[in-house]
Amino acid sequence: MNNKPILFIDSGIGGLLYCADLIKRCPQEDVYCIADRENFPYGQREKNELARILILLTEKLIKNTDPKILVLACNTATVSALEPLRQNFPNLLFVGTVPAVKPAVNASKTGKTGVLGTTRTINDPYNRALVDECEKDCEIIGIAAPDLVEFVEQRYENAGKNEKTAIVKKYIDIFRAKGADTLVLGCTHFLYLLEEFQNEAGPAIKIFDSLDGVTKRIEHLLDENNGELRASPGSKPEYKLLLTGKEPADSIWENRAQDLGFELGLV
Ligand code: DGL
Repeated sequence: MNNKPILFIDSGIGGLLYCADLIKRCPQEDVYCIADRENFPYGQREKNELARILILLTEKLIKNTDPKILVLACNTATVSALEPLRQNFPNLLFVGTVPAVKPAVNASKTGKTGVLGTTRTINDPYNRALVDECEKDCEIIGIAAPDLVEFVEQRYENAGKNEKTAIVKKYIDIFRAKGADTLVLGCTHFLYLLEEFQNEAGPAIKIFDSLDGVTKRIEHLLDENNGELRASPGSKPEYKLLLTGKEPADSIWENRAQDLGFELGLV
């Protein structure tokens, strides 16, 4: 048994849905969600810069929280920094989040799959490498949507239904016009708009994301070696939302923590 916490890192609120999914399936685990608001948005940064930022943050988190698993609940962080992190911290278990390109390509009938992500993710050769691993040939239509990241991070809770639908429609229309029948949400922030994506896409475009795959991967690690990494059954779990930066959390973060029943703090 191991009662150390499982950490999720994102630049902002992208990690919260991933934490919530794990808690639903493994409620006894300590789960800390790190929102690196100090370095938001990750998607506009260079690969090397992101690797440096995430190595420093991981160093600090190991010292302060001693995690058993660190989840990069962020596609941008994963394509940019997962390998350097594994090299720098060989004793820590990492789980990455990558766009669910493979299942989308395999499900496509038109041979055209859309991927929506940050500028950094869309420009990374990792996307092409994922397609190359698929059994069939497919055209990938990659579009960067930094405005969608900003919208979710800063305005999601206060935005009305029409505004959410309008911002999603803009992208669905582009993918539809290009003939895509499958679309990968390749940024964890976009999962907040899953319902709008599904409504706008209708039956003609199937939406894929990585939420279930990431949770299953964590559960798999917990189950290895007769579940030696699982928290003890009777233990009282701690759920925390930890923000980077020195300034106190504003009301939007207080509300986010409260809605999920997470303790709010700084790291
Ligand atoms: N949520 C992150 C992702 O999955 C990126 C957001 C950002 O640009 O900071 O890529």
